Amino acid sequence: MATNRTFTMIKPDAVANGHAGKILDHIIQSGFKIVALKYTQLSHEKAGDFYDIHRERPFFNALVDFMSSGPVYAAIVEKTNAIEDFRLLIGATDPQKAGAGTIRNLYAKSIDANAIHGSDSDENAAIEGDFFFQASERF
Ligand code: RTP
Ligand code: MG
Repeated sequence: MATNRTFTMIKPDAVANGHAGKILDHIIQSGFKIVALKYTQLSHEKAGDFYDIHRERPFFNALVDFMSSGPVYAAIVEKTNAIEDFRLLIGATDPQKAGAGTIRNLYAKSIDANAIHGSDSDENAAIEGDFFFQASERF
């Protein structure tokens, strides 16, 4: 059964471009409640651990360099059918293919700098949320 929570990160490009506030508002206005929120920067090692499933992929080094290049907003958000609905809200990995009005369509420039992360399964949402947040940081 689908859970009602997912994990997201507003990526360094969107933070640097000044889009974080608009993206957070977009998420909230789309019916997601913020359960946890943190402004932080991943070390190179931590970014590698976060994207460990992609370690053998050709884009891994570029991904880790990019994700550790500046601060991010990490968040756990809650809504019915959260995983699927959040992936629809952010759009395709490649912003050129992301549907009109999706967050990547509106705010991302390239497949590497694509503005936002959304967990791809309930299992990964739980792992990724635990990566950033203690129980006492969730409301
Ligand atoms: P994310 O995990 O960041 O939410 O992105 P995603 O699920 O849409 O895509 P995923 O397959 O998990 O890939 C993670 C990130 O790696 C970069 N990527 N580059 N050049 C490429 O073919 C390629 N494929 C993936 C993207 O920045 C993607 O967000
Ligand atoms: Mg992914």
